[in-house]
Amino acid sequence: MSDRVNQLVGDILRRVHEAIVEHDVTYEEYQAAKQWFIDVGEAGEWPLFGDVFVEHVVEQQAFGDRVGSKGTILGPFHLPGAPLLSPPFELPHRSDEAGDRTHVWGHVTGHDGKPIADANLDIWQADAEGRYAGFMPGPPDGNLRGQVRTDATGRYDYITVIPGPYTIPLDGPTGRMTAAAGWSPWRPAHIHVIVSAEGFEPLVTQLYIDSSDYLDSDVASAVKPELIIHPERVGDGSYAISYDFALAPVLLGAIA
Ligand code: BEZ
Ligand code: FE
Repeated sequence: MSDRVNQLVGDILRRVHEAIVEHDVTYEEYQAAKQWFIDVGEAGEWPLFGDVFVEHVVEQQAFGDRVGSKGTILGPFHLPGAPLLSPPFELPHRSDEAGDRTHVWGHVTGHDGKPIADANLDIWQADAEGRYAGFMPGPPDGNLRGQVRTDATGRYDYITVIPGPYTIPLDGPTGRMTAAAGWSPWRPAHIHVIVSAEGFEPLVTQLYIDSSDYLDSDVASAVKPELIIHPERVGDGSYAISYDFALAPVLLGAIA
C-alpha cells in the first residue's frame, strides 16, 4: 500500500464529494460528467486538459522558489528531436511564412551571471495564425521548431516570426467545457523554449509578446510578468527581441 496514493487520492476524492454536496449535484449532472470523461479520453484530450487546467500549479509548486529565470508550463505541443540548426540560426519556415520577422537574442548565464557556452535552446512556437506544426492543419511538419546553441560568450540569437495567439481546440470536450463555463479559450502569443546546459537545471519556459491580447486571461494561467517580452521595431521594418536566461545549478541529491 502506498501512503502517498492513500493520502493524495483520498484528499482529492474528499474535495470532490464536498463540491457535490455544496453544489447539490444531480444524477443528470453526474451522468453528463461521466460521459464527458469518456469523451475526453476518446478524443485523446487528457494531456490537453491537464496542461490547460492543472500544469501551472504543478509548475509553480515544483519550481516557484528556484533561483534564476522564471519557468512556466511545458504544454502539450513540444516535439522532442527538433533539428539542431547551424549559424546563422533561423527557425525552419515556409518560403512565404506570414508574420513579422524578428531577431531574438540574448545570453544564457548561471545564476551567478557567468556565461554558459554551448547551452542548448529547444524552441517551438505557433505561426502568425496561431497554428502549431504537427498538431494543427496548415504548417508543414517541423515548421518553427528548432534547436540553437550559445557561443563561447553565452550568446544565442535566431530569426523567427512573431507568433499569433490561439485558442485551445473548440470542437473537442475540453473546448466545449470551457465554452459551457463561459471561460475564454485563448492563449496569448508566446514562444516556447527549453534552455539546458550541463550542470544546470533545464529551464522550461515561454516568452509572451507584450502587445498580445489575452495576457490577462490566459486559459492555461501560465503568464508571469517576468516572461513578457518587448519586440522593438528595427530599421528594416522587422523586430528585435532581447531576453537573457539565468539557469539554476543542478540540485545535488541527498547523500545517504
Ligand atoms: C501551449 O502553451 O502551447 C499550451 C499550453 C497548455 C495547453 C495548450 C497549449
Ligand atoms: Fe504554446
